[in-house]
Amino acid sequence: MSETSRWDVHRPVLLEETMAMLRVVSGGTYMDGTFGLGGHTREILKRSAPEGKVIAFDWDEEAIRLGLENVEPYRNRLTVIQRNFKEIDQGLQEAGVAEVDGILIDIGLSSLQLDAEGRGFSFRRNEPLDMRMDRRRPLTAAQIVGESSERELADLFYYYGDEKQSRRIAARIVEERKTNPIEQTEQLAQIVYTAIPKKFHPPRIHVATKVFQALRIAVNDELANLGEILKKAGDHLVTGGRLCVISFHSLEDRIVKRALNNSTRLNVITKKPVVPGSVEVAENPRARSGRLRVAERFA
Ligand SMILES: C[S@@+](CC[C@H](N)C(=O)[O-])C[C@H]1O[C@@H](n2cnc3c(N)ncnc32)[C@H](O)[C@@H]1O
Repeated sequence: MSETSRWDVHRPVLLEETMAMLRVVSGGTYMDGTFGLGGHTREILKRSAPEGKVIAFDWDEEAIRLGLENVEPYRNRLTVIQRNFKEIDQGLQEAGVAEVDGILIDIGLSSLQLDAEGRGFSFRRNEPLDMRMDRRRPLTAAQIVGESSERELADLFYYYGDEKQSRRIAARIVEERKTNPIEQTEQLAQIVYTAIPKKFHPPRIHVATKVFQALRIAVNDELANLGEILKKAGDHLVTGGRLCVISFHSLEDRIVKRALNNSTRLNVITKKPVVPGSVEVAENPRARSGRLRVAERFA
């Protein structure tokens, strides 16, 4: 894919709304916990010119490499750290920054990760069941599928994927793996397809969507990471600084809502989440489930 076309297809979710909520000003210092393809970072750097800075985190080496190309004109005001955003204390310390004027977390997968070959996030291609966003981490989806008990798998699909057919799928996986190790995306998608009776196949999404989502959340320990950053972010904001969190499914949104409501450092700004308008959804269907919640550090 050429530079221009990659940038053309990449649309940061809720971009205008996030910039307004972060209240990006000239000369401010901001943390982007999920650099991805650099879409939000680029806009923050543009709006905080000429002196503003961004400290960006991402744990995916490939995302960082491609994202950096997208922010090239602003490179001198950007520090990128390949770390889990939950390591905010160490990351900001390394960057020599104690407090920032705003923090953005745009969780989930980037379109790059979903579309990239060989990462195992999609059931639309046949590839190894990997799903690690950070390939330095040891645990892959194939290991979870191969080594978890039937009960553990059923719980994982039910709680992380909201998959009502979780027990049937787990039973089929355990049966199948007695004779065939389950190591490829297509193999797993096929097992899910046959495990769920036709009358329970969902009408609008692929039958394996929820199972793949659940495995991705487990492989990357996504909910625990989210919980950690929500706990620590307030410590690194200046008074009046804002934390903006964009999430993509109800499980995450509930965690964000609860953490912001219970925070001893942050006041909730968005009683209801900000959601994309119809124009954004029409232009970028992947944005449709995005929800932005915002809280502000008080003294
Ligand atoms: C939805 S994308 C961000 C897109 C970005 N806002 C943009 O406009 O290009 C999410 C990114 O966050 C990264 N990510 C997810 N969880 C992370 C974590 N715990 N620590 C660091 N990076 C994480 C992923 O690797 C991915 O690149």
